[in-house]
Amino acid sequence: MRSFANRTEGFEDSIFAVMSQKAAKHNAINLSQGFPDFDGPEFIKKSASDYISKGFNQYAPFAGVPKLRAEISNVYSKWYDLSYNKDSEVTVVNGATEGIFATIQSLINPGDEVVVFEPVYDSYLSSIKLAGGIPVAVTLEGENFSYNQQKLEEAFSHQTKLVIINSPHNPTGKVFTESELKPIASLATKFDCFVLSDEVYEHLVYDDNKHIPFACLDGMKERTITISSAGKTFGLTGWKVGWCCANPEITDRIRKIHQYITFSIATPLQLAVAEALRESKDYLQGFKETYQKKRDLFMNGLSKMGINFNAPQGTYFIMLPLKGITKLNDVEFCEKLIVEHKVATIPPSAFYLNSEEGNHYLRICYAKSDDTLNKALENLQGL
Ligand SMILES: Cc1ncc(COP(=O)(O)O)c(C=O)c1O
Repeated sequence: MRSFANRTEGFEDSIFAVMSQKAAKHNAINLSQGFPDFDGPEFIKKSASDYISKGFNQYAPFAGVPKLRAEISNVYSKWYDLSYNKDSEVTVVNGATEGIFATIQSLINPGDEVVVFEPVYDSYLSSIKLAGGIPVAVTLEGENFSYNQQKLEEAFSHQTKLVIINSPHNPTGKVFTESELKPIASLATKFDCFVLSDEVYEHLVYDDNKHIPFACLDGMKERTITISSAGKTFGLTGWKVGWCCANPEITDRIRKIHQYITFSIATPLQLAVAEALRESKDYLQGFKETYQKKRDLFMNGLSKMGINFNAPQGTYFIMLPLKGITKLNDVEFCEKLIVEHKVATIPPSAFYLNSEEGNHYLRICYAKSDDTLNKALENLQGL
């Protein structure tokens, strides 16, 4: 057989798939992969099936159905006072994952550097690699997962073309404050680079924390590509409907890539998401409350076992510090939890390029029914 293209060399199966397989093999409760184990809202599913029955089943326009682009434009204006033109600045994509890939392919040339924050969501690294770019990681350190200002400045250079921000952040649950975002914005201006702001957990922000879309910072809208996901927001991750909002020149480039990856996204699902966004006010309040209760349920359970740490500010993940629990590293401890306690989690060292910090944590996903969470807590007794 002839050899394969070099570009996939070094690519391994995603850690999420690996851990889900292990969970199934050991019959363990799966708190590894980031999706709910309960179904999404009835009103959206009903709307999708109505559209299917009524015959909305052919290709959608490649930029997205006008109705959904109009609703995305409306909600950004309503939620954040951000104005995006539905025709020239909004593109519907196959989940945030495709938006990230298309954005990176449309901006990055071989040799361009991309600043990322580690722990880093794994699709960024493979998308950067496929474009021939070079990731430069800044580590989020300590119990607040903060970056060091000097290290941040050292990461930027005239080779930097793009910086990727993810707030609320997977896996740490950190929500970046305005004072943390502003120095990133200054560096993006100083080095004239683009900013990809991955905001898929924008509605899962707890306590007094507040989500600040990067494009809302002074002077940032023109250079920022804002990406989000209906799959995450409506608990329907299998639908893979997401979007990219950016100025018309960037949007034009993103669409040029998007049309040759997927061309367009399932028509009835886009139409149902458009309706869901229009009706989203009450839903979103309940969505956030539900997940905050799940976070608290799991944290209280751990606390009763004597395991205490800072509550995550957003998302549906916990980075559990292993200090005081075990001397094993994250991979070893993860293995032990699956085999001995029948609970699957993610070893976060897979999300680090530079530092060993990830060896001392576990990522737990609490987007699960209360029943699943309670069973997992029972299994974890005696850690
Ligand atoms: C930070 C982050 N970005 C993007 C995605 C992918 O979103 P989607 O399912 O819409 O492709 C995920 C999914 O877990 C994520 O955690």
